[in-house]
Amino acid sequence: MALFDWNKIYCTDVAIIDEHHMYLFELINSMHRAAKERNGNEKLDNLFKELLENIFFHFKKEEELMSKCRYPEFQLHRLEHDNLTRNLLEFRGKFKDGNTFASAEVAKFLKSWLTIHILQTDMKFAKHFKTVQHLQNQTGVQKNAG
Ligand SMILES: [Fe+2]
Repeated sequence: MALFDWNKIYCTDVAIIDEHHMYLFELINSMHRAAKERNGNEKLDNLFKELLENIFFHFKKEEELMSKCRYPEFQLHRLEHDNLTRNLLEFRGKFKDGNTFASAEVAKFLKSWLTIHILQTDMKFAKHFKTVQHLQNQTGVQKNAG
């Protein structure tokens, strides 16, 4: 059984964010599965590396979007990203000793962190982003009509 099954309650309706989140959960599931199946340290280490790269890439993208649409809670949101980044780098140190227990723990930790972050923090931003986009579209329509 997968650690995490995607559910539509996690959809922000901002396509790029949802795509990234779904992929992150796939990677989290892969790492959890690999740890449970006691795959070798090298495989676990590669999976963790891939997961970190994708998380950092995703945070960067979200922060670009927040900055572009002048999101008022940008700093607070970024603080959550920065805290997770720090935690993951600490985990990475632990993980270097190569143990499957640490991989399964990271996967479980990330699953709960991401679900809470999506439901509370990303949803708030997505709402703002969609409002800004809607207003921009309306202004665009008015400009074209005028
Ligand atoms: Fe976020």
